[in-house]
Amino acid sequence: MVEKVTVPDIVKRKRRGEKITCLTAYDYSFARILDAAGVDILLVGDSVGCVFQGQPNTLPVTLDEIIYHTRAVARGRKRALVVGDMPFLSYQVSREQAIQNAGRLLQEAGAEAVKLEGGAAMQKTIDAMVQVGIPVMGHVGLTPQSIHRFGGYKVQGKDKAQWEVIVGDAVAVQDAGAFAIVLEGIPMDLAREITERLTIPTIGIGAGGHCDGQVLVIHDMLGLFDDFTPKFVKRYADIKGVVTSAVKNFIADVREQKFPGEEHSFH
Ligand code: KIV
Repeated sequence: MVEKVTVPDIVKRKRRGEKITCLTAYDYSFARILDAAGVDILLVGDSVGCVFQGQPNTLPVTLDEIIYHTRAVARGRKRALVVGDMPFLSYQVSREQAIQNAGRLLQEAGAEAVKLEGGAAMQKTIDAMVQVGIPVMGHVGLTPQSIHRFGGYKVQGKDKAQWEVIVGDAVAVQDAGAFAIVLEGIPMDLAREITERLTIPTIGIGAGGHCDGQVLVIHDMLGLFDDFTPKFVKRYADIKGVVTSAVKNFIADVREQKFPGEEHSFH
């Protein structure tokens, strides 16, 4: 019997000092593999825009697209917590809009929680969502939906003023009732300070090793996407290499009439 990971389990992990693992997933096959391998959280991230759709950033991703991918991921999940990412402009316009759209991720797609970007500015929105029973994961620091405001994917919180703003953002997200928070692209000492200060778990990406958990984009960690590789990515496999060599073998086999063989044919 598989023991399902729930929102309260994720919160308890911090108290127990157990690290949390999170990877992005966008389809059924990968969801099955990652879930069976034991990852705690499957995040259907709006990074789907970059690594799956080939967009230059996450801004063009729509709610319907996240719902489509979340449905596929939820079908492949037995144990992990499935978190659906709220894309740009699906929660910023009004609290009503945020509740309705997050509700669609839970109701239509099978997500068990949602993630959204932003700190103090999103406090009331997160609070409203939590009040109606929607578990929210926050996301502060280098929030990719604000790429144009930042002028690129730049580490945030390097100067004192920015540092304080990000600490305040993380506290605001916790005060609003979020159950966990992603810290992205910030100095490791800032992530440590936030992790020590908050009672909810911090999940880092490009935020050093002091966070309560870590998240990576699956295409980055498997070497499937190499348009650019951020410094914080560790490559655990070279799947691009594996696929390239398999495809070259297939091409050679077909050209040399080695495939299909008798064993792949019908009589
Ligand atoms: O969209 C995404 O994949 C994310 C993670 C990188 C945290 O937001």
